Amino acid sequence: MSTFETEVKKGQRFEFGKNWQGFLTTLTDEKIKIAEASIKEMLRIDDLNGKTVLDIGSGSGLFSLVAHKLGAKIHSFDYDPASVACTQELRSRYFPNDPNWVVEEGSVLDEDFIKSLGSFNIVYSWGVLHHTGNMWVALENAASLVKKNGTLFIALYNDQGRKSKLWKKVKEFYCSGIFGKTIISCIFIPYFFSKALLSCVRRRENVFIEYKKNRGMSITHDWFDWLGGLPFEVATVEEIFHFFQDRGFVLNNIKTNNGLGNNQFVFVRYSDE
Ligand SMILES: C[S@@+](CC[C@H](N)C(=O)[O-])C[C@H]1O[C@@H](n2cnc3c(N)ncnc32)[C@H](O)[C@@H]1O
Repeated sequence: MSTFETEVKKGQRFEFGKNWQGFLTTLTDEKIKIAEASIKEMLRIDDLNGKTVLDIGSGSGLFSLVAHKLGAKIHSFDYDPASVACTQELRSRYFPNDPNWVVEEGSVLDEDFIKSLGSFNIVYSWGVLHHTGNMWVALENAASLVKKNGTLFIALYNDQGRKSKLWKKVKEFYCSGIFGKTIISCIFIPYFFSKALLSCVRRRENVFIEYKKNRGMSITHDWFDWLGGLPFEVATVEEIFHFFQDRGFVLNNIKTNNGLGNNQFVFVRYSDE
């Protein structure tokens, strides 16, 4: 049994890849365009021609696809074999046999694997490093892969203090087995659904449709990703800012989230330190 399978069996890890397989059945050209717009907006670019991009924890593969469509030479990897299969699926759907898009299985915590990758103009890791089980080492390893004057685009769960600790307990129960998964789903899915319906009424718009404007994602798949998402760590904006400042990076763009969800950071490496 692989380490990944053992972690899933012990209730320490959510099977993100299975959720991504479901998401891929809902993928449309419109969602791809929205995902593309989200990358362009945060990186403040029109294209990625001539750039090398590393997608750490590629998940569905949607953002690797978008980076490649924008002109980048892309290297994608993920720790979950089903996520790797999803990324491979998108590669064969849109760019079959393209040598400028490499997809492989690997962990951002594996020092030898990380050293074998080289360095990149852009390192992208959205919603991944807090799910590795060792976020600060994962951040260090991700930083080491950025070329001088290169860019690091990461998204990490916001530290909500006591609330984050409670959510961790929910996730642990969800991943503990079929009983936990059923109980947590029966409590929280109707809760999220009612909240979404209330939002529809208050905002006079269909939030189920509006949600995809959030990086082309699907609201229902994100609910399960949130409920099950283990390992789970969080960080404050200040902690991340200082961590990268100490390592020769300057903050170039930021989108914060005061509540539950991700803070997004774009850093540029100005020193080899
Ligand atoms: C919430 S998903 C985010 C996927 C994608 N980056 C996105 O923006 O849609 C987190 C992904 O991180 C992957 N992951 C978790 N631990 C990892 C590790 N140690 N190395 C690489 N990927 C990892 C998971 O398998 C999963 O596919």
